[in-house]
Amino acid sequence: MNIHPILLTSLCAVFLGACSLPTAEQRQAIKHGQVIYAKECAQCHGPTGQGAGEASLGLGVAPPDLTLLSAGNDGEFPREFVRRYVLGLVEKDDPEAAMPEFKTVGLRHVYPKGGADGEVLEADFSDLLEYLEKIQK
Ligand code: HEC
Repeated sequence: MNIHPILLTSLCAVFLGACSLPTAEQRQAIKHGQVIYAKECAQCHGPTGQGAGEASLGLGVAPPDLTLLSAGNDGEFPREFVRRYVLGLVEKDDPEAAMPEFKTVGLRHVYPKGGADGEVLEADFSDLLEYLEKIQK
């Protein structure tokens, strides 16, 4: 079969474009992660992740801009660091640090009656990380 080079080029572009688009499953994960973010993180890290949430004023430490995590890591989203940090598995210099250790407190705004742990919590954190990766600048 003889394919015209221009047609071939545009076909490739279409395929590459399709590859970088999130799948329905990823879109769902990002959406779910956003809901979790809004309930558990936005009050300090701001509605868009850029800081200055309403609860951040009295903290003494400004919650960092979460859209710059990749920029501070050579352009790559530091997924494992963020996971460990949010869960509270990273050794912190300041034992009085303002941010909750979510492994200990759980997602208490998402599940006010408690009850989400184990696999549910892992899945929720994975979605949260998808969302955080999506908002990187
Ligand atoms: C009570 C306010 C508060 C809440 C709620 C909160 N954070 Fe934080 N976060 C902070 C503060 C303040 C820091 C700066 C370090 C410290 O004091 O712990 C921080 C640091 C971080 C860091 C480290 C960033 C870096 O560059 O080192 C990440 C990642 C992070 N938060 C993500 C989250 C996520 C995700 C959530 C929601 C699940 C969340 N935080 C909820 C206040 C908060």
